[in-house]
Amino acid sequence: MRVLGIETSCDETSASVVEDGNKLLSLVTSTSLDLHAQYGGVVPEIAARSHIEAIMPVIEQTLSEAGNNEPKLTENGLNIWDSIDAIAVTYGAGLGGCLLVGVMTARTLAITKNKPLYAINHVEAHVYANFLTELAPGLADAYKLPSSQPDFPCLALIVSGGHSQLVYFKDHFDYILLGQTVDDAIGEAFDKVAKILGLPYPGGPSIAQQAVSGNPKAFDFPKAKLHTENTDLEKFRKEMDTNPSNNKTNYDYSFSGPKTAVLRTIQKLCGKNHDFPSFKLAELLSESQKADIAASFQRVAVETVVDKTVQAYNEFQPKSVVIGGGVAASPELRRQLAEKLPISIQYTDPKLCTDNGAMVATLGCFKREHQQPTADPYSLDIQPNLSM
Ligand code: KG4
Ligand code: ZN
Repeated sequence: MRVLGIETSCDETSASVVEDGNKLLSLVTSTSLDLHAQYGGVVPEIAARSHIEAIMPVIEQTLSEAGNNEPKLTENGLNIWDSIDAIAVTYGAGLGGCLLVGVMTARTLAITKNKPLYAINHVEAHVYANFLTELAPGLADAYKLPSSQPDFPCLALIVSGGHSQLVYFKDHFDYILLGQTVDDAIGEAFDKVAKILGLPYPGGPSIAQQAVSGNPKAFDFPKAKLHTENTDLEKFRKEMDTNPSNNKTNYDYSFSGPKTAVLRTIQKLCGKNHDFPSFKLAELLSESQKADIAASFQRVAVETVVDKTVQAYNEFQPKSVVIGGGVAASPELRRQLAEKLPISIQYTDPKLCTDNGAMVATLGCFKREHQQPTADPYSLDIQPNLSM
């Protein structure tokens, strides 16, 4: 079974063909990141316009590469579309104008090529990047993949520019949202702190780079203590009969406190008050001050999600832990998880952590295999605020 996956929720136009939910046949991504870098963040209108230009060439290229990478798909004069069983497309969460381009394209193709259509939740798809374990012959060594698929129950930490969530998967399509950020996503916090430090977008990698020469203990930015309510979590705790001593803590977290603390620290270091324009602060900082702030913020932000992950692991004892989303590529996140988590994680390739069509196609394969409902190609609508 082969699924064409289409992803356009943010600044990547990406399409991929995946076989049986574990084998990557092709992946083509065009990004408008360079166009956004000068603004310090994604400009939705520019991203949407770029998707319109890129979407058809990206889909055509991924189909043709699938045929080249896996010759059985086109032998005896077979048309590549004959090998595609379904189309999967991200319909939320994401930027409205961007989602529209992918969804309208997928709907049109589903009608004209007469293929079933699956509507994909972007955040859920990030988890499914971890289910790819095999490459088509033509892709040999292009990606470093885990040797086996995660076992259920599986704890998933999804950390990206738009999402920070901790989810317990009992099985495919049966999960509980344990906790999430109550304000900024971790990637968004990295992007904002990078902007204050005058570092280029995207912030995660540029903070990581600046942090290399910094002291992660130079500043102790505060972590938020939250007492939010999560009735699903409470129900799940009863069902699992977990250790009551854990029941005082929950799994939500926040990044707005440490992010504001960074700004206040920089203002103090520069001898400026709140009225001073924040975009002018970076030029007053030395390289070593920037490095110390980057390293300290990175430590605290990563500790925030890692500590919750370890706490959830200890409370619910899943068989596996996976991470997904752009920040999953962070070396500091991987280092802290390796240090603190009792089991090891099989990471996927960093190229499959950021937004891509392969994670969408993979989840599409599982939806088809598990007879999940298809979407109506005449009416599927986008859901920019879709949650897990
Ligand atoms: O998953 P993604 O590509 O898009 C969203 O769904 O948001 O994640 C993008 C985010 C950005 O905030 C970027 O700063 C962060 O992922 N990111 C990283 C790394 N690569 C991308 N953060 C830390 N380390 C990285 N290597
Ligand atoms: Zn994403």
